[in-house]
Amino acid sequence: MDIELKDVTKSYHRRHRSGKAVLTDLSFSVPSGSATVLTGPSGSGKTTMLNLIAGLHLCESGSVRVGPHVLGGLSESRRDRFRARHIGYVYQTFNLLSPLTALENLTVPSSLIGAFGPGTKARAEALLETLGLGGELHKRPYELSVGQRQRVAVARAVLKKPDVLVADEPTASLDKAAAKVVISALEGLIRGGATLVVATHDPQLTEALGARVFAVDEGRWAA
Ligand SMILES: Nc1ncnc2c1ncn2[C@@H]1O[C@H](COP(=O)(O)OP(=O)(O)OP(=O)(O)O)[C@@H](O)[C@H]1O
Ligand SMILES: [Mg+2]
Repeated sequence: MDIELKDVTKSYHRRHRSGKAVLTDLSFSVPSGSATVLTGPSGSGKTTMLNLIAGLHLCESGSVRVGPHVLGGLSESRRDRFRARHIGYVYQTFNLLSPLTALENLTVPSSLIGAFGPGTKARAEALLETLGLGGELHKRPYELSVGQRQRVAVARAVLKKPDVLVADEPTASLDKAAAKVVISALEGLIRGGATLVVATHDPQLTEALGARVFAVDEGRWAA
């Protein structure tokens, strides 16, 4: 699925005087099956953009389209369904479910969206193993290191084989070797036809994905 943001303006706290827009008249598109990297200083709006693409937030003006879905025109429940069907999201702060084990953090969301089939558990185990977490399957998030949690978050999104993967600094807590394995998993998604939008400062990641870079230049986003 391709992605198109057109003249997007997004601010928070609209009713307050401090409600300066985070994004102003932002336009960019991502062709289907390709990768784009968002790079900019802290607070420049990377997570905000990913949330707009995932349909978690709506913009005040402009439009966000993902494949045939124009997100501003969808009700909240339809956007939830859109996200469940089409989007894999590696959250910057992981958003793992704390009562569940690493393995259950993959399998339970699959069941909730009706995507749990006969091979799902085995695939989840294999994926966690590939990401170096074979010994950690039955640990809960608080029993994992931060880098291990980050890899569970990546595995959960990758397991879904989403049409669109948004990933928020998915290698930020990883050493080079662990990052490499995560990058391979993301490359696998691209080979499968997924479209990727990744917020990152990791040149290894940008290069491996052959990603177009969308960066902040003098305070403005530019291709
Ligand atoms: N829910 C929110 N309510 C109010 N302001 C917010 C909210 N989320 C983000 N912001 C503000 O929007 C701006 C952009 O935030 P965003 O999280 O998109 O930045 P970022 O580029 O992802 O930063 P980082 O590199 O630190 O993750 C920041 O000034 C932030 O304070
Ligand atoms: Mg962020």
